[in-house]
Amino acid sequence: RPLDINIELPDEQSAQKLKIGIYFATWWALNVVFNIYNKKVLNAFPYPWLTSTLSLACGSLMMLVSWASRIAEAPKTDLDFWKTLFPVAVAHTIGHVAATVSMSKVAVSFTHIIKSGEPAFSVLVSRFFLGETFPLPVYLSLLPIIGGCALAAVTELNFNMIGFMGAMISNLAFVFRNIFSKKGMKGKSVSGMNYYACLSMMSLLILTPFAIAVEGPKMWAAGWENAVSRIGPNFVWWVVAQSVFYHLYNQVSYMSLDQISPLTFSIGNTMKRISVIVASIIIFHTPVQPVNALGAAIAILGTFLYSQVNIQSLVV
Ligand code: 3PG
Repeated sequence: RPLDINIELPDEQSAQKLKIGIYFATWWALNVVFNIYNKKVLNAFPYPWLTSTLSLACGSLMMLVSWASRIAEAPKTDLDFWKTLFPVAVAHTIGHVAATVSMSKVAVSFTHIIKSGEPAFSVLVSRFFLGETFPLPVYLSLLPIIGGCALAAVTELNFNMIGFMGAMISNLAFVFRNIFSKKGMKGKSVSGMNYYACLSMMSLLILTPFAIAVEGPKMWAAGWENAVSRIGPNFVWWVVAQSVFYHLYNQVSYMSLDQISPLTFSIGNTMKRISVIVASIIIFHTPVQPVNALGAAIAILGTFLYSQVNIQSLVV
């Protein structure tokens, strides 16, 4: 008698949800590892312009090798593609270097608490630069996000203005990057993975001269020697880990951006920060005052509210 097994294939929608769920989980896990190694490197070697450049260089190299060895298929691009990519790459470069400069000055958790305000920037940019309007509840949901971030910032024990401004600039730049990226990917045959690879390469070209101008080989050589003498040869592996994980988490995040709206992306990104904040506080023994934690919790709760309100307004 044939086996009477009734296999129910999941419908397309739940398969899509599962796929995005897997992307999100992978993205968050890779990001936690990146943040830990990134901070370890910055603690020993405080040259964020070089470490930002190395992350982009490593990702670019990984993708060039993947294309050459046909592990991944190289995208077919034209001049128009690279022209449209340019503003995205400028925004990516600014957002990346600003976040790294921020993390070189303050605790990882503090940078990410401020960066959890990204949805507020998303609404403000959409309102003032793109002329989009939102229902009142969306604006109201920004109050706890902004208030919570502000409370966490003023009660931060190791507050530093460059650290704070770096995270704020990164928020603004990444909102533009996400909106322009989504537009650039729409209707194009380039996949999220290859889109991010091209973005890395263009950002690398933009960032390199600035990194040389701001820090430069002399500082790097002295700093490197110092770091290796204090940490030992393992320091090189920390740099490799931060660079490889930087590329991997961004690649996966772009694979999900390919499937979701910039808004959902911003929300997923804020949720990701909860795991980064918790993991980094534990690993780096970051001192946290109760009122400081309260600010972070309010900001993150605000993002939950914001996502709920947005879903409601999309449904209506
Ligand atoms: C960077 O260096 O680009 C930032 O650490 C990344 O910030 P993100 O968490 O918004 O990706």
